[in-house]
Amino acid sequence: MLANGKHYRTIWLKQPENRIVQIIDQRFLPWKFVVEDIASVEGMCKAIKEMHLRGAGLIGAAGAYGMYLACLEAPKNKDFYRYVLEAAQKLKGTRPTAVNLSWAIEKQLEAINQASYVMDKLNASLSNAIAIADLDVQMCKKIGEHGVQIIEEIAQRKGGKPVNILTHCNAGWLAFVDVGTATAPVYEARKKGIPLHIFVSETRPRNQGASLTAWELEHEGIPFTVIADNASGHIMQRGMADMVIVGCDRCTKTGDVANKIGTYLKALAAKENNVPFYAAVPSSSIDWDISDGIREIPIEERSGDEVKYVTGADEYGELKKVLVTTEKSKALNYGFDVTPARLITGLITERGVCKPSELGDLSKN
Ligand code: MRU
Repeated sequence: MLANGKHYRTIWLKQPENRIVQIIDQRFLPWKFVVEDIASVEGMCKAIKEMHLRGAGLIGAAGAYGMYLACLEAPKNKDFYRYVLEAAQKLKGTRPTAVNLSWAIEKQLEAINQASYVMDKLNASLSNAIAIADLDVQMCKKIGEHGVQIIEEIAQRKGGKPVNILTHCNAGWLAFVDVGTATAPVYEARKKGIPLHIFVSETRPRNQGASLTAWELEHEGIPFTVIADNASGHIMQRGMADMVIVGCDRCTKTGDVANKIGTYLKALAAKENNVPFYAAVPSSSIDWDISDGIREIPIEERSGDEVKYVTGADEYGELKKVLVTTEKSKALNYGFDVTPARLITGLITERGVCKPSELGDLSKN
């Protein structure tokens, strides 16, 4: 998608050597556009853990490229595979909730295992990392094509008035390799000339909505309004949102969805106010091994400092981190919550839109 009028993906290989992974360092958005070079597995682990890059699909692609870096670093002898396996464990351990990370790493291990010689394994890890990134983009595009049908129906009912969509966190292109999931139907709707307006929930504590989704939509020219997280209920009660579309970090086979903390409250408010609530779910985010999201999805707990401090730019554009609590306040920081399937109107997947209870049927198509 576009940043300052130029097309970018969120992760790519530095040319012409193909030995360094480059990413947009999202810690500096929306204030500065910074590209970071990552040349080692250790660097990739740090980038994922400290959220230089984030978002389920992008974490998956980063894991895949991290495995390629592991193959580059590994001794080219009998210890090659042991080194690569250790790297896989380190990468998997960086963030627990989005299942895309282990999905991508397992795909890499399979590809590496299938090749016979060390150099073939290295080449396989390179072409497979690129394939995983491309697949992410394809899935997002398909989610857009299916999701836009829901927006079209609402637009017809509204007779030309803008469709108001509420979203949470950032499930846009910055959270994937390109396009995004929750935003993909929005971009498809724009192509069809459907008037739209997006309510962007700020998403404390790290403000991915206010900092990232707003930045994305602005660069793409989509009308939006940033709201405080706790304004969503009021907005739905007043009939100001026609639908909610959120992303997904892990979906159970029964359609429970783990997504950024605060999603569950939005789903409750949507149910109470009869606002259709959709989660955009690529198959890389489905965990077919679990059925009870509340009990079985591991929820990341991050540093309380993310709650206590807020980062922003001062009037001179200098980045500042300020304390919004007392020095001694304790803070609890769960990164995600689980929205039970019963609160979800539909899942928008790359294979079509379905009720959460129909997810299994869809996978057989
Ligand atoms: O902690 P993050 O920023 O990596 O969280 C992931 C997310 O951006 C959201 O939960 C998102 O809505 C789904 S991931 C595409």
